Amino acid sequence: MSAVTVRVPAKINLYLGVGPARPDGYHDLATVFQAVSVYDEVTVRRADAMSVQVIGPWAPEVPIDQTNLAWRAAEAVARAAAVEQAFAITIDKSIPVAGGLAGGSADAAAALVATNEVLGSSLSWDDLERLAAGLGSDVPFLLHGGSAVGTGRGIELTPVLTRGSFHWVLATFASGLSTPDMYADLDRRRGPGFTEPPEVPESALRALAQGDPHLLADQLANDLQPSAVAARAALADVLTAGRDLGALGGIVSGSGPTCMFLVGSESQALDVAAGLRASGLVNSALSVHGPVHGARVVTG
Ligand code: C5P
Repeated sequence: MSAVTVRVPAKINLYLGVGPARPDGYHDLATVFQAVSVYDEVTVRRADAMSVQVIGPWAPEVPIDQTNLAWRAAEAVARAAAVEQAFAITIDKSIPVAGGLAGGSADAAAALVATNEVLGSSLSWDDLERLAAGLGSDVPFLLHGGSAVGTGRGIELTPVLTRGSFHWVLATFASGLSTPDMYADLDRRRGPGFTEPPEVPESALRALAQGDPHLLADQLANDLQPSAVAARAALADVLTAGRDLGALGGIVSGSGPTCMFLVGSESQALDVAAGLRASGLVNSALSVHGPVHGARVVTG
C-alpha cells in the first residue's frame, strides 16, 4: 500500500475521577470516555526519511519532530513488524491542540492503524493496543472510540452501552494547559494523606444507557476542573455562560482548557455554540455529537 489515510476523532471525559498519585507518577483513573465528531486525518506513506507535516490552522502549535506522538507510533509499528522503513506522515488537524481533547493521542492512534496498513497489516489489533498503551494513556481509547469506562492509567477499557447520540458544544481556547501541571496541582490541593480510589457512579452509566441527556447532565464531573479553573480563571465565566445559554450541564474536558457542554438537541447545540462565540470569552465553539467510532482507514 503506498499511502493510507486514517480518520480519528477527539475524546471527551464525561466523568473523570482521579485517585492518589502512584509511585510511577501516574494516577489511577475512573473515567468515562466518549469519542466525538471532530476529526484529524492522518496519512502515512513510505519515505526515505521520517517526517511529519501538519496542515490546518493549528499547524504552528504542533511539533513536527520525533516528539510528535504520530512519528513515535509509526516507528513503533515498524519496529514491532521487524521492518526497516521510514514514513512521511501528514496530519490534517481539526482537533484543537493541548485542549484536553487528546488530539496528539488521536494522531498516534491513527498513525498506528495507517502504518500497519501501509506495511501490509502484519500486526494484529492486540499488537496495536499494546503499542497504543506504550504511547500514552488516551491512545488505546482512540483506537476503539465509542463510549468506554477507563480504569488504571486510563488504558483498561470496558465498552459502555449508550442509546442514541448525545449533542455537545466544545468551547476551545487559543492556548493550552499542561496536563502534568493539572495533575500536580490536584495532588497539592489534596495533600499527601489522600487515598480514596476513584469510581464511576452507576447513575452516570444508567444515564448513558437510557440515552437521557437530562439525567447525564447531572452526572458530569471532573476532578481536574478546580485545577484548570485556578490556572485560567476565565473558565469559570465560560462554564456559567454556557449554562446561561441553555446548556443542560458543562464541565472542563480532561485537563482543560476546553469546556464541554451537554445540550438537548442539535439545534440547541448550534444556538449555544453561536452564543459562546458571540460572548468573546472563547476562541471557538464546535458543535459535535458522540459516540462515534475510533481510528478507521478512509483511503488507501
Ligand atoms: O499518558 P500521557 O503521556 O498522556 O500522560 C501525560 C501526563 O498526564 C503524565 O505524564 C502524567 O503527569 C499525567 N497523567 C497521570 N495519570 C494518568 C494519565 C496521565 O498522572 N492516568
